[in-house]
Amino acid sequence: MRKKCRLGINIDHVATLRNARCRDAKAWPDIVQAAAAAIKGGADSITIHLREDRRHILDGDVQRLKKALTVPLNLEMAATPEMLAIALRTKPHAVCLVPERRQEVTTEGGLNVARGGKKLAAIISQLVAQNILVAPFIDPDADQVRAVAATAAQAIELHTGAYAHAKGAAQRRELKRLQDAARLAVSLGLEVHAGHGLTYDNVGPVAAIPEIIELNIGHHLIGAAIFTGLEEAVVSMVDAI
Ligand code: PXP
Repeated sequence: MRKKCRLGINIDHVATLRNARCRDAKAWPDIVQAAAAAIKGGADSITIHLREDRRHILDGDVQRLKKALTVPLNLEMAATPEMLAIALRTKPHAVCLVPERRQEVTTEGGLNVARGGKKLAAIISQLVAQNILVAPFIDPDADQVRAVAATAAQAIELHTGAYAHAKGAAQRRELKRLQDAARLAVSLGLEVHAGHGLTYDNVGPVAAIPEIIELNIGHHLIGAAIFTGLEEAVVSMVDAI
C-alpha cells in the first residue's frame, strides 16, 4: 500500500493576523497554540517562512516553535547568509529554500537552482552537514530537478502554484509537469514534497501523485479556519488528501 502523504501546515498567516495588532511572538493569536490545533487536526509537521522583512513570522516565533513542537519544524527561507546562520543555530528538522523578493505578495516562482552555482550548493551542504533535510522549492522543470540532484540536497519541494491557478486543459498540462518532475526526482534519489496554492478542491490530483510524500499547505487552510476552527480545517484537508 502507498505510504500516507505527510501534511505540513503553514501557519505564517496566524502571525500575519497577530502582527496586525502587535509584532510580538507572544501576542494573540498565539502561534504555538495554532500549531497545537493543527497537530490535533492531523498535521505531521509545521511549516513557517521567516522572510527577510519579517512580515509575518518573527525570529521569536522560530525559537518558540522549535522549543514547543512535538512534530518536525520545516523552515522556509531564502538562501542568504543571515538565514543560513539562523538555520544552523536553530536546527529545524527541514529547510525549504525559497527565492524571495521584497515586493512580492507571496513566493512567486521556484528557486533557480540551475543558476545558483557554487554559493547555493555550499549553503545546501552546510545545512545537510547539520542533519537538516534540505528541499529547494522549484518549478516542475527537469533542468531544475537535475540541478538539485547535483547538490547535497536530499529533497525538492515542487511549486504547485501554476497548477493551482490554471483551469481545464492548462491545469491538466501543469499536473503532467508535476507528475513528470516528481518521477524524475525520485529516479535521481530525491524525496518529493509539493505546495503552494493548494485548496480542498484542487489538492486531490496532486496528493495522488505517488512520488509526492509531503504537502505543505497554508493560506487556504488558515482562511477556512476562520469559519471552522483550525483543527477542523486540517481534518477536512486530511480528508481531501
Ligand atoms: N511551500 C512553500 C515553499 C511556500 O512558500 C508556501 C507559501 O508560503 C507554501 C508551500 C504554502 O502555500 P499556500 O500558503 O498557498 O498554501
